[in-house]
Amino acid sequence: MYIDTHCHLSKEDYDDIDLVIKENIDNKVDRIIISGCTKETIVESIDIANKYNNVFLTIGYHPSEARITTDADLELLEKQIRDSSKVVGIGEIGLDYHYGKEDIELQKDLFRKQMKLAEKLHLPVVIHSRDATEDTIEVLKEFPQIVGDIHCFSGSVETANIYIKMGYKIGIGGVVTFKNSNLYRVVEKIGLDNIILETDAPYLAPVPVRGKKNSSKYMPYIAEKVAEILNCSLEEVAKITTNNAVSLFDLK
Ligand code: NI
Repeated sequence: MYIDTHCHLSKEDYDDIDLVIKENIDNKVDRIIISGCTKETIVESIDIANKYNNVFLTIGYHPSEARITTDADLELLEKQIRDSSKVVGIGEIGLDYHYGKEDIELQKDLFRKQMKLAEKLHLPVVIHSRDATEDTIEVLKEFPQIVGDIHCFSGSVETANIYIKMGYKIGIGGVVTFKNSNLYRVVEKIGLDNIILETDAPYLAPVPVRGKKNSSKYMPYIAEKVAEILNCSLEEVAKITTNNAVSLFDLK
């Protein structure tokens, strides 16, 4: 059985959420952790997680929300976390410089405030870092007692090892199946003990469904690739990555 440790589930992307959950189970994905990372999707994700036993969630403001997120929003976030028994972490939070650096200070400020909240509530974090490795590491180092997941990791072996030393797991998703990706080197070097699996659905569908709308049900394609890279059985990949996810997010 697999756990999809990071995906997004919204009516905007999926007409029939009951069907998504059923298809996941048919494909051995028995638990998923959905992420709400805008004001609207946080509310929607809480509703969905409340409805399904096997759906957990992380909530937190994505760096793309830095310009519009207020302190009142963050106070509400704290309340939403305290009020929901299904919240297992804060995220995705972090830094994204892909579309420019105009709001870099706002992004860092929002990131630090949410790291402080994670510290206060003793929760792991799910980190989104795009074209911002150095600054991400700098902020994470300010919070040495926090652990988490480097979601959709696509960096070098060296960078992965820095995160691992700080207590983070490396989130491996569909990119590992892409022909032009060097992620296999990272998987090979860091091994199963440091990996958790994710789909980041509805984005980044793995080969052979690359380009389609992604879904947690495609998780076995990612696991198969990891097993192939590490020359181990699919059962071993499922068992160890599931254990890693259960212990990181303290899943029941
Ligand atoms: Ni995501």
